[in-house]
Amino acid sequence: MQDQTSVLDIVKLRRDLLSWYAQSGRKLPWRENLDPYSIWVSEIMLQQTQVKTVISYYHRWLNLFPTIEALATSDLQQVLKAWEGLGYYARARNLHQAAQIIVRNYQKNVPQDLNTILKLPGIGRTTAGGILSAAFNQPVSILDGNVKRVLSRLIALPVPPKQALEKLWHLSDHLIDPDSPRDFNQALMDLGATVCTPKNPVCLLCPWQPFCQANHQGIQNQIPMTETAAPIPHKKIGVAVIYNEQGQILIDRRPAKGLLGGLWEFPGGKIEENETVEECIKREIKEEIDLEIEVNDLLMTVDHAYTHFRVTLYVYNCRYLAGEARPIECDEIRWVTIDELEQFPFPKANLKIIKALKERHSKML
Ligand code: ADE
Repeated sequence: MQDQTSVLDIVKLRRDLLSWYAQSGRKLPWRENLDPYSIWVSEIMLQQTQVKTVISYYHRWLNLFPTIEALATSDLQQVLKAWEGLGYYARARNLHQAAQIIVRNYQKNVPQDLNTILKLPGIGRTTAGGILSAAFNQPVSILDGNVKRVLSRLIALPVPPKQALEKLWHLSDHLIDPDSPRDFNQALMDLGATVCTPKNPVCLLCPWQPFCQANHQGIQNQIPMTETAAPIPHKKIGVAVIYNEQGQILIDRRPAKGLLGGLWEFPGGKIEENETVEECIKREIKEEIDLEIEVNDLLMTVDHAYTHFRVTLYVYNCRYLAGEARPIECDEIRWVTIDELEQFPFPKANLKIIKALKERHSKML
């Protein structure tokens, strides 16, 4: 592309994209002010979550933690609670930790230097470009999922983007407008999100249609090429809602490191081959927290799709029989009332259980 594209083409590519953006760009809350902290928060939320979901979380977050200092001095559990439902919770832990580093080492200012910002937890190359271009108008390129698709189509990339990352980065560096890097990057993301969409791109409305190799060859629907995906594993999990004699329920906090780290859950674990759900739950509760329980009726099943696997939770009402709860495979254990459950951050699949418990509880009152 670099070899094939003349200087004149580059100038026109930039100009046409920027005029399209001026007319058709999206009005998004993080584009309304240039506060580097707010922009950083938005970029982290947008890493794995769609714009329409992010907007309400973004506003709520800035109300709860209006400055880097407010975030740095907040309790991690409160931070995770504000993230509850957004998924990929390492993002919230990294934001919290990075805020503490910024307060300690950078006089409470988001670093403006690429190599410095890249050292903060949770900030990779495309997020760094997103922040530095949007907050400080620096000519630092980006390559998120949308941009990969736009650029792959522009040059009719004959391999999956994953196999050509350096080429795509190089192209993104080459194209970014040195006079308007902020708008250029935002425009590129909007083009991918609204025109150069994964299915049925609206090439007629695209400012880059005259330059687009995929469009010229009529192969825009085949690009980006995909890797043959491995089948998604399906985990079956037995889950216990354990009541004690006071009607309280036992919850545990997952180890800080690892999947859904630091979030609370109803205890349980993977159902092994040749084991019933009831046997699994009894075994897990003994192994994880050293309690004897009675497994009663099925409360519900919950299906949930994470990115790399699917889970089905088989949730049983259980009764505490004997033992002193010990956090063997978790960080903390609490007995709580149904009303207290919502003070704790839980993974999404568990929220459905809390809703069912509340409904059942209010019917019994
Ligand atoms: N995805 C990542 N950053 C974004 C932004 N600033 N606007 C829209 N979508 C995005």
